[in-house]
Amino acid sequence: MRFAEIVGWGKALPPTVLTNDDLSKMVDTSDEWITTRTGIKERRISHVGATEMAVVAARRALAAADMDPAELDLVVNATCTPETLIPASASHVQARLAARNAGAMDLNANCSGFVYGLVTVSDMIKAGSVDNVLLVGVEKLSYLVDYTDRSTCVLFGDGAGAVVLTPSDRPVGVLSSELGVDGEAADILCVPEFGTAGRPGRPDPRRSGIYMEGQEVFRRAVTKMGEASVAVVEKAGWELTDVDLLIPHQANLRIIDATARRMGLPASKVFVNIHAYGNTSAATIPVAITEALEQEMIRPGANLVLAAFGGGLTWAAAAVKWGERTTPLSVSDAELPPVTQTVWELLQPNFEFYGLPEKLRD
Ligand code: UT7
Repeated sequence: MRFAEIVGWGKALPPTVLTNDDLSKMVDTSDEWITTRTGIKERRISHVGATEMAVVAARRALAAADMDPAELDLVVNATCTPETLIPASASHVQARLAARNAGAMDLNANCSGFVYGLVTVSDMIKAGSVDNVLLVGVEKLSYLVDYTDRSTCVLFGDGAGAVVLTPSDRPVGVLSSELGVDGEAADILCVPEFGTAGRPGRPDPRRSGIYMEGQEVFRRAVTKMGEASVAVVEKAGWELTDVDLLIPHQANLRIIDATARRMGLPASKVFVNIHAYGNTSAATIPVAITEALEQEMIRPGANLVLAAFGGGLTWAAAAVKWGERTTPLSVSDAELPPVTQTVWELLQPNFEFYGLPEKLRD
């Protein structure tokens, strides 16, 4: 029987930091409010496009797997902020990597996109239709953030993570999964006019940023992430006590804590980096996997649960058996280009489109 093992991993986080104190210079908020309500201290704002972040994360993941891009059969970008729609953003990544033997496609399930992607490509590998796959989670969410709206602008950040998968005859990788969606409630977390919903060339700033009914999304995220996480543990034939590490989507520390409580997991078995990056949607989980490996929180043969919830309203969870190797085979020298702008200069296009935040008006 064929399984799909994660053999490479990497991340690319833009260096420019937007702190809670920076946000309190724009809108009526405070470090205290953001920290206690969300767990976020800072987030990254990208000076480059999503492709550049994806390519650096991908090169690092390929190096960790010691794999040449020409060996890839498929490149998948999980994203809801592609640099272009035509071509799909995975085509840019394929071209930049010179992955000349690969197919390429984007997959959009919003914040659950990486887990949806992992389940999809793992099943393709198990079925024998592809061997080597690069799966990227990348987001430039700052593009969609209206910094006049304090209820959403504190939450989101930019970044990319990537994994490389390859067939294995050992029982590793995704052992069970749950994918769900509640499309009827999708308008409580949406960007109303990013696609063809708007008039060509006439974007409406009031309908082009992220809209969220926070409390209701919170309530549903707690329920669905908890239910899906417990379900994949049962389906994998594990007990909850068999779980070594929960790697949850990082949207709100209180949602993470509630999911861990539902599973009866102590804090030492839960990966958290929300303080550093905020919510980076589909990039969150591959970045978290990479950091959990760097911090030696994933041991050989570890039982992992990945769980996510987001726009759609999608949710996804997977029980993942890690393989034997937890260190990279080699290290890439790929880097993002240096930043020449301040964080305020990077946000200027948002201010021009959505409006200048209240406190910056004088
Ligand atoms: O990845 C997609 C999934 N996304 C999520 O899972 C996010 C889910 N939602 C949440 O994380 C939380 O609902 C938020 C962090 C967005 C909001 O936290 P909350 O505890 O649900 O706050 P709230 O919306 O109930 O608002 C409480 C108060 C309100 O003031 P009043 O009406 O009580 O006077 C808000 O206007 O906090 C106010 N508020 C703020 N105050 C300071 C809202 N945003 C802010 C802010 N700073 N940034």
